[in-house]
Amino acid sequence: MQADRSAPVIAIDGPSGSGKSTVARALAARLGLRYLDTGAMYRAVTAAVLAAGVDLGDADAIAALAPGLTIDISTDAAPARISVGGRDVTGDIRGPAVTAAVSAVSAVPAVRAAMVARQRELIGAGGIVVEGRDIGTAVAPDADLKIFLTADPAERAARRAIETDATVGATEADLARRDRLDASRAASPMAQAPDALVLDSTDLDPEAVVERILRALGTAAPATTTGREL
Ligand code: DC
Repeated sequence: MQADRSAPVIAIDGPSGSGKSTVARALAARLGLRYLDTGAMYRAVTAAVLAAGVDLGDADAIAALAPGLTIDISTDAAPARISVGGRDVTGDIRGPAVTAAVSAVSAVPAVRAAMVARQRELIGAGGIVVEGRDIGTAVAPDADLKIFLTADPAERAARRAIETDATVGATEADLARRDRLDASRAASPMAQAPDALVLDSTDLDPEAVVERILRALGTAAPATTTGREL
């Protein structure tokens, strides 16, 4: 059942390198909707955990810190600025230290509970494209459209390697490690919602992916249709 919202919520989930951010932002711009990058929020908490010198193996210490952090993030379709506890971490959150630590931090249930509550606040009355790992399953299970975006691991690694100095081989190994952690954690793991539309972007550029989603929006199927390939 859909929530009593005045405007649509579009959930885009999937692993790193599937093209979620590019597609979600372009879709929001095309539809005049807001945009929320929930991965940036987990990255911001991770930046705060690292800045506080908390041991990444100490889930209790992470759990004690996270709920008190104020996350400010804009929901414009333009690349968002983000701050945690009043400190701008927009640059830090894309660095290798945060990327290496974010799966451990985002697996802590108290971190997830705090982030999911904040994400629901930001979603508010809707009119937003939300990207992440658990949007269709946990954050907004009543979203008007759910997309699960995938791509072959080698293609995802090639896309990510262009953004960093790492080799494609090292990037593929790192993505596989993060996918494993994100999909196997106990608290709201990365998962395809049963009523999500599955879209494989391996051979599609972002514009073609956006076109397919727009087509799906025009012909949105009832939520009983499961796991359809677009
Ligand atoms: O999308 P991203 O690579 O910026 O996400 C960073 C990490 O945050 C990713 O490894 C998993 C986690 N994440 C999550 O657990 N739940 C979300 N809704 C979004 C991201």
